[in-house]
Amino acid sequence: MEENEKCGCWAVLKRTVSDASKSSPSSKHSPNSIPRVTLLYDSATETRYLNASNRDFCPPAEARLSFDNAPPPPSSEDKNKRQLLKFSFQELRSATGNFRPDSILGEGGFGFVFKGWIEENGTAPAKPGSGITVAVKSLKPDGLQGHREWEAEVSFLGQLHHPNLVKLIGYCIEDDQRLLVYEFMTRGSLENHLFRRTIPLPWSNRIKIALAAAKGLAFLHNGPEPVIYRDFKTSNILLDTEYNAKLSDFGLAKAGPQGDKTHVSTRVVGTYGYAAPEYLMTGHLTSKSDVYSFGVVLLEILTGRRSMDKKRPSGEQNLVSWARPYLEDKRKLYHIVDPRLELNYSIQGVQKISKLASHCISRDPKSRPTMDEVVKFLIPLQDLNDLAILAYHSRLSQQGRRKKKSDGLHQLTYTQSRNIRTSPMNVGIVHRRR
Ligand SMILES: Nc1ncnc2c1ncn2[C@@H]1O[C@H](COP(=O)(O)OP(=O)(O)OP(=O)(O)O)[C@@H](O)[C@H]1O
Ligand SMILES: [Mg+2]
Repeated sequence: MEENEKCGCWAVLKRTVSDASKSSPSSKHSPNSIPRVTLLYDSATETRYLNASNRDFCPPAEARLSFDNAPPPPSSEDKNKRQLLKFSFQELRSATGNFRPDSILGEGGFGFVFKGWIEENGTAPAKPGSGITVAVKSLKPDGLQGHREWEAEVSFLGQLHHPNLVKLIGYCIEDDQRLLVYEFMTRGSLENHLFRRTIPLPWSNRIKIALAAAKGLAFLHNGPEPVIYRDFKTSNILLDTEYNAKLSDFGLAKAGPQGDKTHVSTRVVGTYGYAAPEYLMTGHLTSKSDVYSFGVVLLEILTGRRSMDKKRPSGEQNLVSWARPYLEDKRKLYHIVDPRLELNYSIQGVQKISKLASHCISRDPKSRPTMDEVVKFLIPLQDLNDLAILAYHSRLSQQGRRKKKSDGLHQLTYTQSRNIRTSPMNVGIVHRRR
């Protein structure tokens, strides 16, 4: 038996990395090695898990609660409708070209995600570029907790189907291997588009994504057995070719409170910068914790800044604390808009998104809107065309015309003066590249 066949993808990867590190520095960028940078978390931006160090730690009572709270296995009738495919490890190894480093789509707390190809209607691997493109997530062999989150993912995503939830195609469980096979989302995560790409994400796409993600959360909260997502963040919002957004990663999802219970008590898990303050303090989880995280993502969409960014000056590292004072003040608001948009945003859209974000991140969870209300609020924002750049040009041409006319005798009409007052050019906005 070939050595690779005796061990899993993690062993294959570990070996590739150690081989790469043993070789000359110039081999760092060889196509046969994983660039080391992809193997390291970005400590400067620190958006990893709370309790990352106790990923293996889970008190027994909570451990039981976590899985007991996952939805029950599908009924036999459901099973016929939406059966997950069960892949063998060998099939997924072939589908991903032996877990080739250059097919890595990303890395999260649970492990690497690889691009692969499978035949239509089955689990057989296909040649690259043929059949169906999939994303294969391999869980690090990190013990009980990883397995539990893998189970939660299979349990939740195997049963929940919605256009704004990523589709789980199947799974692999073989010895200590745990893998998940998802539909491939061509454009990757919102995190990539907001913070890593050089081309800024257009305003209309930002609204489209916010609305789709809100619909995904509303679906989870409003089902007959409500689900609290618990890990809403930009890296878990995946995009297809048309920028349709879908939520991924249900490893931390929890069944919502049952009967007259107001909350679920849990160990605090989630990601720095996104978790609601009352959840951090008490461990009491409600759907309003997700609404808070949604507000944080709205702020990231509006500002182009990460929820937590250690590279920024001390007063600006936590996005919520930095942005809160600006949100309520229409005149200061434009200071925090993503400068990469360069006035290509709707003026009213910015005002409304700020208002909504401020509402979602209210300190009192009861003051936060429901996700249904959020969806209703966002729908009309798709049609706003009052771009700041247009207001700017109209202001310039008005100034030009005024100069030509009498010096100062020209009276502004009410509409003109109102346009000028609300124009970003007149509220002290200076957009500079940060
Ligand atoms: N279905 C998919 N299609 C395309 N790319 C994907 C898919 N799933 C994940 N990815 C890519 O892999 C990256 C890592 O995903 P993963 O969910 O493992 O980690 P994460 O969300 O970045 O972090 P965390 O572990 O904290 O949730 C994503 O950011 C995305 O770029
Ligand atoms: Mg994720």
